[in-house]
Amino acid sequence: MHIRLHNFTMEVEDKGSGQPVLFIHGYPLNRAMWEPQLNPLADVARVIAPDLRGHGGSDPLPGPYSMELLADDCCALLDALGSTQPLVVCGLSMGGYVAFAFYRKHAARVAGLVLAATRPGADSPEGRANRAKAIELARAAGGGAAAIAESMLPKMLAPRSYEANPALVARVRQMMESTSVEGIIGDQMAMLERPDSTPMLAQINCPALVLHGADDQIIPLKEAEAMHNAIKDSCLQVLPGAGHLVNLEQPQLFNAAVREFVKLSTKDAKKH
Ligand code: MLT
Repeated sequence: MHIRLHNFTMEVEDKGSGQPVLFIHGYPLNRAMWEPQLNPLADVARVIAPDLRGHGGSDPLPGPYSMELLADDCCALLDALGSTQPLVVCGLSMGGYVAFAFYRKHAARVAGLVLAATRPGADSPEGRANRAKAIELARAAGGGAAAIAESMLPKMLAPRSYEANPALVARVRQMMESTSVEGIIGDQMAMLERPDSTPMLAQINCPALVLHGADDQIIPLKEAEAMHNAIKDSCLQVLPGAGHLVNLEQPQLFNAAVREFVKLSTKDAKKH
């Protein structure tokens, strides 16, 4: 479904009823990455999965983007959909960076956080230099989304999924290649400039579920463990055999954990 926001049109999946859960995709992907979650979880939740600006069916607005801007887009979308009650925000990787920005600005709207394959910290100097290279590659003649996909794909999945699941590799490649160059550059700049959310972790006062693939090659497990230790009301589940795209590589375990968490958040919300 298309939703017209202040200055662009956002594409969103909105199904089910009950506790709303906002699913925020990673880079350089789109809402299709949540396909294994949306129908299976629509019996316990109203699942809302947008394409961020520059991705999927949303308008390819030029940058600069920031995590705050992407979080504000999500907020405007929720308002447009009439979803004003506190909700669970589930972000994967860059989607987690957006979830932190959402919490920083709109904590009262958050009933729970699912932090999947993500980290609170800002980029290291090496990480920033790699972002500059990715921006160059996206802009180069013969570069673009296809070159970005080629360079990232082997690391997005656990080595086992990459070798044994060509259909999944093709699906992820297709999502990456469909991302606009504006979206790729906008995201890279937003990630490069994102603030360190580590100091905020001790102030998070909603429940949080940290989900991480045991074989994540992009964000080391120890960062998820440290994040879990710093958030008071959090639990960590490490999913075996999964890499960075933990929801696609272990959909059943991922969904079972989110389902339980949503049920608990709904109960907690009723208590308050
Ligand atoms: C993602 O999967 O969203 C990105 O790889 C995150 C990042 O580049 O930091």
